[in-house]
Amino acid sequence: MTPEEKFGQLQQLAWNGDTGPGGGQNHLAEAAAREGRLGSVLNLRGAAHTNALQRLAVEESRLGIPLLFGFDVIHGFWTTFPVPLAQAASFDPGVAVADARTSAREARSNGLHWTFAPMMDVTREPRWGRIAESCGEDPYLTARFAAAKVHGYQGTASGEGYDGARGDLGDVVRARADHDGNAGADHGGNAGADGASTAGPRADLYGPDRIAACAKHFVGYGAVEGGRDYNTVDVSPRRLRNLYLPPFAAAVRAGAATAMAAFNTVNGVPAHANRPLLQGVLKDEWGFDGVVVSDWGGVHELIVHGFAADGADAARLALAAGLDMEMAGTHVGDNGPALLAAGRIDPTRLDDAVRRVLRLKARLGLFDDPYTDEAAQVSAPTAASRTAAREAAARCAVLLKNDGALLPLDRSGGSLAVVGPYAGSADLHGTWSGPGESRFPAVSVLEAVRAAAPDLRIRHAADGAAAVEAVRDADMALVVVGEASALSGEASSRSDITLPAGQEELIAEVAATGRPFAVVVVAGRPLVTESWIERAPAVLLAWHGGIEAGPALADVLFGDVNPGGKLPVTLPRSVGQIPLYYNHENTGRPADPADPAKPYVTGYLDQPYGPRFPFGHGLSYTSFEVGAPTSAAETVAVADLAAGARVEVAVTVANTGAREGDEVVQLYLHDPVASVVRPVRELRGFRRVTLAAGERAEVVFSLGAAEFGFLADDTGALVLEPGRIDVHVGSSSQRTACLALTLV
Ligand code: IFM
Repeated sequence: MTPEEKFGQLQQLAWNGDTGPGGGQNHLAEAAAREGRLGSVLNLRGAAHTNALQRLAVEESRLGIPLLFGFDVIHGFWTTFPVPLAQAASFDPGVAVADARTSAREARSNGLHWTFAPMMDVTREPRWGRIAESCGEDPYLTARFAAAKVHGYQGTASGEGYDGARGDLGDVVRARADHDGNAGADHGGNAGADGASTAGPRADLYGPDRIAACAKHFVGYGAVEGGRDYNTVDVSPRRLRNLYLPPFAAAVRAGAATAMAAFNTVNGVPAHANRPLLQGVLKDEWGFDGVVVSDWGGVHELIVHGFAADGADAARLALAAGLDMEMAGTHVGDNGPALLAAGRIDPTRLDDAVRRVLRLKARLGLFDDPYTDEAAQVSAPTAASRTAAREAAARCAVLLKNDGALLPLDRSGGSLAVVGPYAGSADLHGTWSGPGESRFPAVSVLEAVRAAAPDLRIRHAADGAAAVEAVRDADMALVVVGEASALSGEASSRSDITLPAGQEELIAEVAATGRPFAVVVVAGRPLVTESWIERAPAVLLAWHGGIEAGPALADVLFGDVNPGGKLPVTLPRSVGQIPLYYNHENTGRPADPADPAKPYVTGYLDQPYGPRFPFGHGLSYTSFEVGAPTSAAETVAVADLAAGARVEVAVTVANTGAREGDEVVQLYLHDPVASVVRPVRELRGFRRVTLAAGERAEVVFSLGAAEFGFLADDTGALVLEPGRIDVHVGSSSQRTACLALTLV
């Protein structure tokens, strides 16, 4: 390959459909494809379109190397599933697998090889718009979902499709469910457990239901200051290791084929030129052999950050740091050959980057079969994919409160007012919803409620006096409020995360009618609910639920599905409390919830301590009792753990109510005395179980070194220290019973 051809493989250009500033590099892409100076294109889709461009590369360029087509298939292509934050609320990685499998099938048939997902940026910032694309504030939960998504996209998840009874990645919920953690250098737990592919080693991503996944954004993007998108990130090595890196480690172990650099700096060094992180941690320490792609214009932004002098400098720094492909910008391609000739680029680094890109193309089978079968293109959601999306959305709903068992609704007769700006709205897809959004509108709550309850007299008005009038005339009301999809996602941060204008007033006016009512919140982030939540008897957090959001909500509201989702993020009382998260360290002067007036403790004068709802909270239409955890082992030797031993902790969960339902049994650890202060709780296991009325089950968590230990700042090595470990098990991060184990 000539230097130009090598650098060409590192070039990704953007077709129409901008997902960043500029874009529309169509003519440039066509010329570059012909000349063999193009590795990949993003934002072109459709088998006929991708084939046409592919033909230029394969049939007209000197070497005939096929192109890679990438696209942001974040939570669906045609069939939009709930936004990733909602999926995390299911506490069921099977939901992520269902989304990823459906997405892979639809995307691959439309000529795509590569999705820029899953996003796995842990975040404590609900103001940040991209929280909607994340799995929230917990690294363990995020790692489990990241691995599930990678397996789903890349075709390595075991089991057959989405199954509501499935736990995660094929380990079916059973009374004695083995937790699938592997002792290793990360907290990914289950990553890689089911990862064996049946395909050949050279084309393991070839197939109609496989696309390459992308672990993004490496790393720390969720820690942007003030939740302002693209902002500065300054994190301690300890947080980097224990909070932000573990999901990426899990994704790498799950076999993620690619990774994307983050827009932000990390402690003063932009992620795109951060050699200790890209080359050091990702490639050398973890052995990642895939492609690292820049984010859109990320190489150019090295200049804007004040880290590179010009385009040539930016290209040199990014390549030397371990970046393999430039998205949208052309600094690497434009300057690479001259830099190489001048000895300013290491030729072995260049060859390594090219080899990674070519290996990805080989894994996708593109050298044997570069084209997509146009006759087999999936051009619409199917009945099966809609069913999967509907089941997923119902599993993601979180019942925040339900005074007097107001929900589920009785549909046998009478009248129901369905009001609020999102009652009749189809804006339920959520951010980054893919091409399905414009062609296949989401089914609204109103439409779905009408279909599900033909015997109810439905009254509807979106807002204002008409809505209040409708409520007055009805026996009962549903008030559907929330945020537009455009209010979360990239470049969509908000400084005020209360309900947008007029909606809090609507709830107040509905409350003043004296009619019983439930509030349904559709949103891409946790909202501050303080001004109205006490007045609302029942509140269901439905998130942005995707194409089948309405029917899924009707399923939950009328009790066909019993809600079982849990919060993957803390719900703050006010913006002023942010950052507020469950896995915080103890201070020297902790607040005492039993004595709110206690002086000289951490907190605020003008607000009660703690969140409105804690991480892991979520109610059901039935009731559960999670018993005290037990273990046959009271003491465990650190040496045994390091050698792979595991400890089982068992707990009994009983459905004490009158209907079938789901409980998410959650296990948290706390090391009360350690060489570095450990968080008061850290999620280290969860299991969503379905129990009939009166049924009980034993859930067994298996804990190993990865669960008990923490990661050293410098090397990332697992640190295991002797002493007491408190094992908290329960139904939320605050409702737990404790068992003390001793590591010796
Ligand atoms: O994949 C995205 C990334 O998450 C944000 N910037 C644009 C990329 C490509 O669309």
